[in-house]
Amino acid sequence: MPDTPSPQPAPPKSFFLDPDLHGYILSHGGGPDEAQQALIAATQALGSVARMQIPPEQGVFMEWLARVMGARRAIEVGAFTGYSALCLARGLGSGGRLLCLDLNEAWTRIARTHWRRAGLADRITLRLGPAAASLATLPQEPMFDLGFIDADKENGRLYYEEVLARLRPGGVLMLDNVLWGGKVVEPRQHPGDASLQAICELNDFAATDARVQASFLPLGDGLLLLRKR
Ligand SMILES: C[S@@+](CC[C@H](N)C(=O)[O-])C[C@H]1O[C@@H](n2cnc3c(N)ncnc32)[C@H](O)[C@@H]1O
Repeated sequence: MPDTPSPQPAPPKSFFLDPDLHGYILSHGGGPDEAQQALIAATQALGSVARMQIPPEQGVFMEWLARVMGARRAIEVGAFTGYSALCLARGLGSGGRLLCLDLNEAWTRIARTHWRRAGLADRITLRLGPAAASLATLPQEPMFDLGFIDADKENGRLYYEEVLARLRPGGVLMLDNVLWGGKVVEPRQHPGDASLQAICELNDFAATDARVQASFLPLGDGLLLLRKR
């Protein structure tokens, strides 16, 4: 009988790292703990959509950022199975509140289960429905210290404006997938990729937006940090 080839592990989401270097980074900068590993496993069981989850090295950075900022109130657009929310909620501390927006019931059911198991359920509010509609119901006031946008890319600019308007001066807005697997440097070679086109337009816009100061991090699939002036 021929040998069955063992499945190849997925390449790191920080796609510019080889697996050895990725492993080294995780073992020296806060890899996932038990609660996070359980959520990674539950998400992997969904199949290829698991690729949407932020990687552990990004999660630990986001928790760390929330902590050093002393952030108390945060918003996330695009929760999926809840990994990034779990990290952010930890960083907010016990009095903190995280508002998560998503429209997928099945994926966010997994999120709720793991938030509860991690003892974070009381810090996180989930609003189910199209994020644009949920955002429109929020008061127009600077109510958040930190925002993370990781949903449908075509609506990225709308989410950017809605979240930025509600961020306090000095607050930080994070945009995920700003490298889009490296394709942002050659968007014309992918004319059918509407997400890529939207990401490139938003990256260009943010780089010259006088309301913010940008820091573009090669972390995960690219994380753009925008400090509101
Ligand atoms: C890339 S995943 C988020 C990954 C998540 N941040 C994590 O670390 O696991 C994108 C999410 O955006 C949600 N989404 C897509 N379009 C949406 C919309 N119009 N309104 C709200 N959520 C949306 C999807 O249901 C999905 O859960």
